[in-house]
Amino acid sequence: MNIVILAAGQGKRMHSNLPKVLHPIAGKALAQHVIDTARSLAPEKLVVVYGHGGDVVRATLAAPDIAWAEQARQLGTGHAVAQALPHLGPAAQTLVLYGDVPLTTAATLKRLLQAGKDGLAILTVDLADPSGYGRIVRDESGQVRRIVEQKDATEAEKAIREINTGIMVMPTARLSEWMGKLKNDNAQGEYYLTDIVALAVAEGLPVRTAQPEGEWEVLGVNSKVQLAELERQHQRNLAGLLLVAGVRLADPERIDIRGELSHGRDVFVDVGCVFEGRVELADAVEVGPYCVLKNVKVGAGTRIAAFCHFEDAVIGPDGALGPYARLRPGTELGPEVHVGNFVEIKKSVIGAQSKANHLAYIGDAEIGQRVNVGAGTITCNYDGANKFKTVIEDDVFIGSDTQLVAPVRVGRGATLGAGTTLTKDAPAGELTFSRPRQVTLSGWQRPQKAKK
Ligand code: UD1
Ligand code: MG
Repeated sequence: MNIVILAAGQGKRMHSNLPKVLHPIAGKALAQHVIDTARSLAPEKLVVVYGHGGDVVRATLAAPDIAWAEQARQLGTGHAVAQALPHLGPAAQTLVLYGDVPLTTAATLKRLLQAGKDGLAILTVDLADPSGYGRIVRDESGQVRRIVEQKDATEAEKAIREINTGIMVMPTARLSEWMGKLKNDNAQGEYYLTDIVALAVAEGLPVRTAQPEGEWEVLGVNSKVQLAELERQHQRNLAGLLLVAGVRLADPERIDIRGELSHGRDVFVDVGCVFEGRVELADAVEVGPYCVLKNVKVGAGTRIAAFCHFEDAVIGPDGALGPYARLRPGTELGPEVHVGNFVEIKKSVIGAQSKANHLAYIGDAEIGQRVNVGAGTITCNYDGANKFKTVIEDDVFIGSDTQLVAPVRVGRGATLGAGTTLTKDAPAGELTFSRPRQVTLSGWQRPQKAKK
């Protein structure tokens, strides 16, 4: 089949400079959701009709399999589909989707395509409040006759609760003739795509309907209110899938997944966590409340306490991280590593069983196994122009409040005294410190306040 995605609308009610179809749900543009679903159906041709914010829309959604059809003026949904005609392949069916209806499932669309095999099919739903939508007008035998828009409907037609979702499949071979027949002599002065239904009926083509599993599948976004509602719906759906797959969630209403979250068995996620990009949680991983994990792999049995922020990091098994730990891009932690509060690690590899439990900055470092990084340790990796590396070999003990001025190496088993500013390599197995000797001035008095 061909798929045409209508995305030319401006979205005035979004009150935004960003074109409507680029607003995100789960961190991904509305139209990108539609494109991804469309792609999963393997269309012969995928055409996006664009208009408002054309350059930004094209640049953001660009992909080699997308053909672009410009609709400079929005003269209606029929006019929009007409702009796509030159791009359509000879495939028998053409499926029309809306770029601002992000959550339709591929399963629903497959049912619609099936229903439209030998004619035309419309995705419809019965709504408690159908106002604003086009109504499905059926005859006494229940056959679809036509669609009437709200603004053109009689009172009797307005009472119809079955509405047109806008998603439709039609015979490609009839399209160009039908497009030529559309008129704009209606209440909105637009070329309505919906008018092809009556044309198909007049030709004796079967017109069928299909329904989605859930109403949310066909809800569109016209305002920030609807955007927020659909975001919650989508997150609820994702949380539901996790629960069914065995993940324990402290509250399925308080998790946000903006990408792909994969998991092993017995994983637990506490409230308020945000997962972005690709996150992998292996067996028995526990994520405490209010953590943000982006493109992170976490090894089995690792426990992450509250308020951690990790990005582009690989964490080994059986680790203990946080609360308040920050892992920045390029961090690789081995097994059983401990990273505590207010520790920031960037582009560093840390070996098994090493610990940095309090207040430290570790950047551009290579740290061996069983290393103890004392509180307040800082790798001075940047001289204002270039970055340098710090190497700390196995079994090193670094005293508190130490600065390692890179490039510098601490040999295996070395100990650095507290307060050291290390500017030269520290030899293996020895104690190195740069602290001035402690002095006591006996009999020294604090200054007294002068009497007036
Ligand atoms: C349309 C349907 C209506 C249906 C409703 C579902 C028609 C005539 N009416 O009405 O039966 O109940 O959707 O939401 O089709 N678009 C363009 N170019 C245009 C006009 C629209 O690309 O010239 C795009 C919009 O960006 C949007 C979609 O088509 O994604 C629907 O447009 P919208 O104006 O929301 O249609 P409605 O008038 O609500
Ligand atoms: Mg409209």
